Amino acid sequence: MLDTHLKHTVITNPISKTAYYTLGVRAWDASLPNPACGDTLAKLFMNEDAQMIWQEFKDDLKPNASNASRHAIIDRQLAEALSDHADAQVVIIGVGFDTRAFRIKGGRWIEVDEPAIIGYKETKLPASKAPNPLTRIPIEFARDSLSDSLSSFSTKTTTHIILEGVLMYLNQADRLRLIAALQEIFPHHIVYCDLMRRSFFERYSKKIHGKILSLGATFADISEHPENLFLGNQYKPLSCVSIPLSAAEHGNLGIPIFVVRYFFKTLRDGYSNWRFEFRR
Ligand SMILES: C[S@@+](CC[C@H](N)C(=O)[O-])C[C@H]1O[C@@H](n2cnc3c(N)ncnc32)[C@H](O)[C@@H]1O
Repeated sequence: MLDTHLKHTVITNPISKTAYYTLGVRAWDASLPNPACGDTLAKLFMNEDAQMIWQEFKDDLKPNASNASRHAIIDRQLAEALSDHADAQVVIIGVGFDTRAFRIKGGRWIEVDEPAIIGYKETKLPASKAPNPLTRIPIEFARDSLSDSLSSFSTKTTTHIILEGVLMYLNQADRLRLIAALQEIFPHHIVYCDLMRRSFFERYSKKIHGKILSLGATFADISEHPENLFLGNQYKPLSCVSIPLSAAEHGNLGIPIFVVRYFFKTLRDGYSNWRFEFRR
């Protein structure tokens, strides 16, 4: 186990430890000469716990490059959406150490995560210092109701919901509960999420998943058509962007673009960032 005795945070939900991994990716990416994402605030959170976890993942260059590109794709999509509607609400569920509320212009931001993550985040980068309005909501996902926590933010205007690096950890019943809560609270919303196909998982993710297992977390209910969660529940697909292809285009994947585009179909199409729109 990599795991259990983190020095600086008491983490009861094992999925939360994976937030240190994606944090480490962004701190590493920001240190590169040509970063994909360039989150220069990430290093603020790199305490001993984060360093310890990052040591285990730091040599997995392809997954790390993809992870940084995953974040960069959503950065670009959100920046574009907010450039037209600076007042739009953005809700990030399972926010981890995401610093978008500080880096992207516009938006009224709501960050939701476990108390251990939100509490630590607040000590290093307080919500009050954000250039955009930012509210942080601590929630114990296993115990508290997401609907109750978010109900006061219900609005008829478009809400942007970020579910990044989250859905693969939830079983199908929890995913359905999550989107039911979103549909109840936000009559018009756009979900931004990453979805992994089973074929991609089998071929490319076993090693990284082994390390995730050693943190105490696990991917759940992995299917070949994860988009059906949304397509079967009144969402309209807006976009689907290949994460590995974006990383190759950026030059960080270590595989030529044409190889990903024309020869490695499972790699190209197996892990993507999607946007889905719901309107009641
Ligand atoms: C891999 S991290 C991703 C963090 C962040 N979104 C990012 O991309 O860096 C997974 C996050 O999901 C959160 N989480 C744990 N259980 C959850 C649940 N039931 N619903 C939503 N998020 C959850 C964890 O606390 C953790 O911050």
